[in-house]
Amino acid sequence: MVIVHTVKELCDMLNSLRVDGRTVGFVPTMGALHYGHISLVKQSCMENQVNVVSIFVNPTQFNDQNDLIKYPRTLECDSVMLEKETSVDVIFAPSVEEIYPEPDTRTFDFGMLDKVMEGKFRPGHFNGVAQVVSRLFELVKPDVAYFGEKDFQQLAIIREMVKQLNLPVKIKGMPIIRDANGLAMSSRNERLSEDERKRAPIIYKTLSASKDWMKQNTVESVINKVIEEINNEPGFEVEYYEIVDGNTLQPINSWTDTDYAVGCIAVFCGDVRLIDNITYFNNNEDFS
Ligand code: PAF
Repeated sequence: MVIVHTVKELCDMLNSLRVDGRTVGFVPTMGALHYGHISLVKQSCMENQVNVVSIFVNPTQFNDQNDLIKYPRTLECDSVMLEKETSVDVIFAPSVEEIYPEPDTRTFDFGMLDKVMEGKFRPGHFNGVAQVVSRLFELVKPDVAYFGEKDFQQLAIIREMVKQLNLPVKIKGMPIIRDANGLAMSSRNERLSEDERKRAPIIYKTLSASKDWMKQNTVESVINKVIEEINNEPGFEVEYYEIVDGNTLQPINSWTDTDYAVGCIAVFCGDVRLIDNITYFNNNEDFS
């Protein structure tokens, strides 16, 4: 495993590895790695002969400067974890200047996909994600790139970006990895106090319970019940809970409005903002 910091080093390294039809698997990250990331890298390593992880805290996707400053930067620990747990070949850990030698002024149009949920509450966030991911794709030129389904809306945006830019990369969404108590793994969990961390599993517990509630309740009352249940937890506040069509991400009013219903939530636990989601049904795949 090598760690490279510049675009030149990355390109030289990839030129030497990308031979004999070897495919390149890529996992973009912002570091502070956990087993959710590791599961993506493991999948990449199972399916490709050359594997790259990027670790870059992308300033253009932070609408809150405080969040950017507080974002954990743990390259040393991250590389030890990757070395121990995976067979990744290259870690690309560039500076801001390497990724953006000039300010990126591109504006993407994702239609209604980024007007809801995260897009509504974090204006400009997905434009920044599209800027950095398209730039990383341009440099790494992966055959396959892996993203976690925890960031459900991000995955939809990236698929749309790849379609719009006609990029020759396959996007794979991978299931959410959870702690034993159900809490979705996230770099932000590290910022929870001990007490908040003990209580944060209420989010997934409530989402799971809502799969039962849906059997006898309207979409609106399930949404209200989820919000009420979580807001009852002292110090926790739901920013949004939306039940949407899993492809268009537009809110549904009735369970019969879609054949793929997903509930997406953002919750403040103290000042830490966590997101999670649950699939109520996806009739195109299965009935879980
Ligand atoms: O999901 C993330 O960690 C980031 O949004 C990504 C995709 C690495 C882009 O900075």
